[in-house]
Amino acid sequence: MAMFEIIRRDGLARIGKLETRSGSVETPALLPVVNPKICTVTPRELYDEFGFGALITNSYIIKNSPELREKAQSVGLHEMLDFPGIIMTDSGTFQSHMYGEVEVANEEMVEFQKSIGSDIGTVLDIFTEPFWSKERTAESIEVTLERTQRACEIKGDMMINGVGQGSVFPDLREDCARKMASMDIDVHPIGGIVPLMEQYRYRDLVDVVISSKKGLNPSRPVHLFGAGHPMIFALAALMGCDLFDSASYAKFARDDRLMFIDGTFRLQDMQSLDCECPACRGLTLEGLRKMNARDRTRTIAKHNLYQIRGELRLVKRYIREGRLWELAEMRCRAHPALLDALRRLGEHSEFLGKYDPVSRDGAMFYTGTETRGRPVFSKYAKRIMERYTPPTDKAALFCDEGSKPYSRAFESEFRKARSAGYTPVVASPFGPAPAELDEMYPLAQSVFPLAEDAETKAAAASLTEAFLRSKFKETVKWSDIPDGGAEEFDADLLRARAVAEYQFGAAAAASLFRGSIELVVSRNTGKIRNVISDGEHVLSMRAGDGLYTLRKEGAHRITAAVPAPSLRVAVNDDAVPFVSEGRNVFCQFVLSADPSLVPMDEVIVVDKDDKVIATGRMALVSDEISAFKKGVAVKVRSGAGED
Ligand code: GUN
Ligand code: ZN
Repeated sequence: MAMFEIIRRDGLARIGKLETRSGSVETPALLPVVNPKICTVTPRELYDEFGFGALITNSYIIKNSPELREKAQSVGLHEMLDFPGIIMTDSGTFQSHMYGEVEVANEEMVEFQKSIGSDIGTVLDIFTEPFWSKERTAESIEVTLERTQRACEIKGDMMINGVGQGSVFPDLREDCARKMASMDIDVHPIGGIVPLMEQYRYRDLVDVVISSKKGLNPSRPVHLFGAGHPMIFALAALMGCDLFDSASYAKFARDDRLMFIDGTFRLQDMQSLDCECPACRGLTLEGLRKMNARDRTRTIAKHNLYQIRGELRLVKRYIREGRLWELAEMRCRAHPALLDALRRLGEHSEFLGKYDPVSRDGAMFYTGTETRGRPVFSKYAKRIMERYTPPTDKAALFCDEGSKPYSRAFESEFRKARSAGYTPVVASPFGPAPAELDEMYPLAQSVFPLAEDAETKAAAASLTEAFLRSKFKETVKWSDIPDGGAEEFDADLLRARAVAEYQFGAAAAASLFRGSIELVVSRNTGKIRNVISDGEHVLSMRAGDGLYTLRKEGAHRITAAVPAPSLRVAVNDDAVPFVSEGRNVFCQFVLSADPSLVPMDEVIVVDKDDKVIATGRMALVSDEISAFKKGVAVKVRSGAGED
C-alpha cells in the first residue's frame, strides 16, 4: 500500500516520506535514470556511494532486449540491477516522444512492469507536445486518462505513476490533474515538460506545475518527470514537486558537460575546475581533460550526481528552516529565463497563499523586487484593509528608516502623535504599518535593504495611500503634528486589541476583549505576554512573531461569538478522549476544517457538536487534511485539563 506522509513543510514545499515495499525515501528526492544497457555509474554505486534510495529505469528498453527481458523476468529488477532500494520504471512514452510511435500497448506494458518487480510502474501515457493544438492535446489526454484508469485496475501490488499531461494549457492541466486525483494512483508525475526545459521555457513550466497542483491530490507525491538539473530544484520544490529524475547527469557527462548550480558548462570552455566535490577533489581541469574517455565520463557523471545531491540537501535544509522562498530567489538569478519563472510565480500568489504559513521562525529577507510576489505581501495588504480599525480618525505618517520595531525607533514621536489624537502609521515596504501592529510578523520580522527599489517603493506607497484614504479622515506628516496634545491612550491595550482583530477578525476579538482587561507585560522586554479579560486568561502573545497563542478560555469565547466552521477543526468522537488529553489531531479523525486557515494558524479543536476540546496550530490546510489518511493535522497545545 502506498503511503506518503508530510514531515515538514514550507508553503507548498514539503519534506515527506514515501513508503514502498522496497523501503522508503525522504522527499524531495531525485531518482537517477539508469540505462540498463550503459551503466555509467552502477546502481550499487548510486546506492552505497551516493545514498540514492531510489532510481528509475526504462521498462521499454528492457522489454525490447531479449537478454535483459529474460533476466529481469527470471531474477527480478532489483537483483538484475543489484539495487536494494526503490525501483521506479518508465513505460516507453518518452521513447515515443523522442523517436515516434512505439509498438506497445498500455496493459501489456503495465503487466510487464509488474512481472519484473518494479516498485512503481508507469502508465503508457501520451506525451503532449507543446506545439500541438489544444484539440489534439485534449483528445490525447482522454486516451491517457482511459489508460490510467485501466492501469489502476490491473496494477496489483505495484504502485502506479499516473502521468498528468496537458502541454501548456493550464485549464487542460488542471482538469487532467483533477481526474487523476480521483483515480487509485500512487504517484503523480507531471509529464510533457522536457521540451519546455530544453527550450528554457521555465515561465511556462511554472504555469504547468501550478495548474497541475491545483487539481492533484495533495496526499500523493508529485514527480516532475524529466527534471534533473539542480538549477531548478529550489523553484520546483517551492511549487510542491517532491520527486525528480535525471538522465542528464550521465548524458551530459558523455558530452563532457558539467552541471553546476548556476548552469551546465562544457569542459572545453571552462577556465578552471574549482570544484570540491568528492569526484573532482584534487583534480585540475588539465587532469580531467587528459583522462581517458571512460574515466572522464565517469568522473563527470559523479560530479554531476554530487551537485544534484548537494542541492537537494540544501533544498531540504531551507524547507526545514522555512526559508525556501529565499533559496529559490537566489537560484532564479542564475539565468534570465529562471528570473522570468520567479516573476511568473508571483502572479500565482493567491493560490500559494493558501499554503503559506502564518509566520515563521526567522526574519523574512527581501532579495529584490520579485520578493513582492511572495504571498506574505498580498496577505498582509488584504488583511490590513479588511481587519484593521484605527483608534482615531487622524493619522500621522512616518517614513521607514530601517530600524525596527518602529515603536522603539520612533518612541517619543509616536507618543507625541498619540497625545495629539493621531494614530502613527509607517509607510513600510509592505504598505501601511500602523503602530499597533509593528511588532507582528511580517512587519518586525523582515529585513529590507536600506536603498529601496523604486518599484517596491511605488507599490507600497500606493497601498499606504489607499489605506489612509479609506481608514482616516485626515493624514499629516509626522513632523507637522502639533505640540502639547493631551489625549489619553494606552498603547499596549491598543496593540493587544489590534493584533487580535488582525489575527482572528473583529467578532472574535470583541469576545476576547470583553469587560475589564488586564495585560501582563514582560518586565525585561516591555512586551505584552498575556491578556486577561474579566479575570480569565484568554490569549498569550508570542515574543517571536508578535502573534497570539489561543488559550482554552479564549477558545470558548470565540466559539460562542463566531459561527462554525470559522477558526475550528472538528473531530469525530473517536478522537475526543485523546485530543482532550493533549494528543495531536490526526487527519483520519477530522470531520471538517476551516478552509481559510493556513499552516501554523491558531485553531480551536471542537467535537461534532462544536464543543471546545483543545487548542493548537494547523499543521496542514483543510484540503490536505481531507486527502491524507495519515499524519498530524493539528499540533495540539492543550487538552481539557489545561489551565
Ligand atoms: N519522461 C519524461 N517525460 C515523460 C512523460 O511525459 N511521460 C513519461 N511516461 N515519461 C516521461
Ligand atoms: Zn565536482
